[in-house]
Amino acid sequence: MSSHATAQPMTASKSGPLKGTASVPGDKSISHRALIFGAMAVGETKITGLLEGQDVLDTAKAMRAFGATVIQHAPGAWSVHGVGVGGFQEPADVIDCGNSGTGVRLIMGTMATTPMTVTFTGDASLRKRPMGRVTDPLSLFGAQAYGRKGGRLPMTVVGAANPVPVRYALPVASAQVKSAVLLAGLNAPGQTVVIEREPTRDHSERMLLGFGAQLTVEKTSEGNVITLTGQPELRPQTVAVPRDPSSAAFPVCAALIVEGSDIFVPGVSQNLTRNGLYLTLVEMGAQIEFQNPRTEGGEPVADLRVRFSDTMKGVEVPPERAPSMIDEYPILSVVAACSTGKTIMRGVKELRVKESDRIDAMARGLEACGVTIEEDEDTLIVHGMGAGGVPGGATCATHIDHRIAMSFLVLGMAAKHPVSVDDASPIVTSFPIFEGLMTGLGASLRQGGQ
Ligand code: S3P
Repeated sequence: MSSHATAQPMTASKSGPLKGTASVPGDKSISHRALIFGAMAVGETKITGLLEGQDVLDTAKAMRAFGATVIQHAPGAWSVHGVGVGGFQEPADVIDCGNSGTGVRLIMGTMATTPMTVTFTGDASLRKRPMGRVTDPLSLFGAQAYGRKGGRLPMTVVGAANPVPVRYALPVASAQVKSAVLLAGLNAPGQTVVIEREPTRDHSERMLLGFGAQLTVEKTSEGNVITLTGQPELRPQTVAVPRDPSSAAFPVCAALIVEGSDIFVPGVSQNLTRNGLYLTLVEMGAQIEFQNPRTEGGEPVADLRVRFSDTMKGVEVPPERAPSMIDEYPILSVVAACSTGKTIMRGVKELRVKESDRIDAMARGLEACGVTIEEDEDTLIVHGMGAGGVPGGATCATHIDHRIAMSFLVLGMAAKHPVSVDDASPIVTSFPIFEGLMTGLGASLRQGGQ
């Protein structure tokens, strides 16, 4: 999917109480990694619960182009017959990662230490996003990258013929960059070391251990020091992908702000590198019960009972929490608008280089819906209007960004007047069943604008 030629407007209106069970699809981050690590193992990896969103389908297609056999057996049930570390073949055509920053950055890491030349592209959103943050460390392995101005796609990466291991301290808190370096380190001799000052999602580390790589994580005063021994033979695995806490955020937050709601959301990750939104909501006074804590697909999970919460208050979100909720600030800002007082989000400049500039997209859309916003390069402040207090009645631009689209549709379920988005089509990248799942709970969503 390299463009959204046909925009699909969608409108959400004030909704009756949301009731029932919200079973959200598989985790996007883990789904990409299951396909990629499966392709680098020798033999057949079996995956259940794979997210069949467009981003992940684009990664599946890419893995086939590199020589892996990737087959869908039933909904969510896939197998990957891998070619081994260093066994990738040079793709015969351009690799189009669609909308997916995770897809393109991880795959660049994967091929950077194999002698081949690969050209990457993506949709209009992905072609605006910076790739230098990945190609800079990949060049230390010996890879070369030739992109457009500012390190933008389309970009051609020439993998290193004689890669050397790397020691790299991440200049930005980014699991994508960390993972790209680790993936490149797989096919370099010796030990590759990545140092992250603030912990980011650790799915690559968990999965590398599961696939049999030698990896250690040491907590030091510099942060996490992750050491990977290169050139292992990865053993194929059975991967049960847990549900996506970033997708669960939408029905959870909708239930918190739609009057009378009471929903059940099974299997939400409690991984400390992913649960920042849930901590923040509880601090705001959200009525969320965490039931039946257990492990699923190697991740700590709990079932959530979520009830309408009309006394939520704004909070100041600690900046060091940002990596554990980086994708959840758009929907948090919607909850903030429906709470009382100010919610202050500092240290969030990374939001400016996501699928869209999410600070700008949320600020402009919330203002159009009657909410007062303050922003600077690294900060978003939302002035809450209380439960049921947001006027709404606007059409918000989604800028080819699934999470912006879903956030404003959730706002429309609680606002006084309907809220439309100019284009809901990007939602398929991460949450293809969003419309059906939300209407099944009682949300008023319809195709078309106002
Ligand atoms: C992801 C990491 C995060 C996140 C993205 C998924 C991953 O990006 O925003 O949706 O799977 O590694 P950054 O690493 O750029 O912060």
